[in-house]
Amino acid sequence: MKGIILAGGKGTRLYPMTKSISKQLLPIYDKPLIYYPLSVLLLASINDILIISTPEDLPLYKKLLGDGSRIGVNFTYKIQEKPRGLADAFIIGEDFIGKDSVCLVLGDNVFYGTNMTSILRSAINSNVGATIFGYPVKDPSAFGVVEFDKYNNVISLEEKPEKPKSNYAVPGLYFYDNEVIEIAKSIKPSKRGEIEITEVNKAYLKKNKLKVQLFARGFAWLDTGTPKGMLQAAEFVETVQERQGFYLSCIEEIAWRRGFISTEKLKEIGEELKMTEYGKYILSLCD
Ligand code: G1P
Repeated sequence: MKGIILAGGKGTRLYPMTKSISKQLLPIYDKPLIYYPLSVLLLASINDILIISTPEDLPLYKKLLGDGSRIGVNFTYKIQEKPRGLADAFIIGEDFIGKDSVCLVLGDNVFYGTNMTSILRSAINSNVGATIFGYPVKDPSAFGVVEFDKYNNVISLEEKPEKPKSNYAVPGLYFYDNEVIEIAKSIKPSKRGEIEITEVNKAYLKKNKLKVQLFARGFAWLDTGTPKGMLQAAEFVETVQERQGFYLSCIEEIAWRRGFISTEKLKEIGEELKMTEYGKYILSLCD
């Protein structure tokens, strides 16, 4: 399975913070925002990853993440010239995906929960066609919204509805079979001029090939769309790390735990970063 991180967009809702830099490069507490969705792919044992961003920002991602060999993964980079929508990721990524299945994660989505690995595993192992997720929120109208019956069969999907049919938002994490490329190509732009991921999901629903998995109570899907959301996410990360001593989304740790890099390599990285708490944490893992 291939992975795609979409880190495009202008981030206008965070101006002036994002006037000269991509939102997904801004920090959430002690690491760049993109580390959080990246860690989801690594947890899913996906190590062939395409990063899509704007022409201005892509060089900055390359500077941050390199070719991936440092953490035993392979990063490919592609430009999205205009914010044409999330589904555009599959058109831009067509060659990269090849004949594989694919997981798309949005560069600004932060997930945290104990059973994350098993949730990801079951999405990867399901051979339904597409797996999306549902997460209860107070105001779902800012998101894609999924309505489902008592057996978790999806009934409807709507993008940013004024009157949501359920309080379950669809987070920015999606698993698809290879058909997604052709489906994405067939989607017409919405009123906001974007080819919507919700339309892709609706196409799978129509074919009876869409599954929704619900994130349970206590699971965290954090919003980083506003300054307040970013602050709250940072406080959440700081609180959990401080209390438990385990780091959230430490990509080097996950790469090591997934067997992408050796303890020796992890130690090397820790030495490089040992002037920071982050580096000290990495070194502590090697003991
Ligand atoms: C996008 C999707 C929406 C999804 C959300 C998750 O919204 O269109 O369906 O719920 O990401 O972050 P956007 O960020 O483009 O407004």
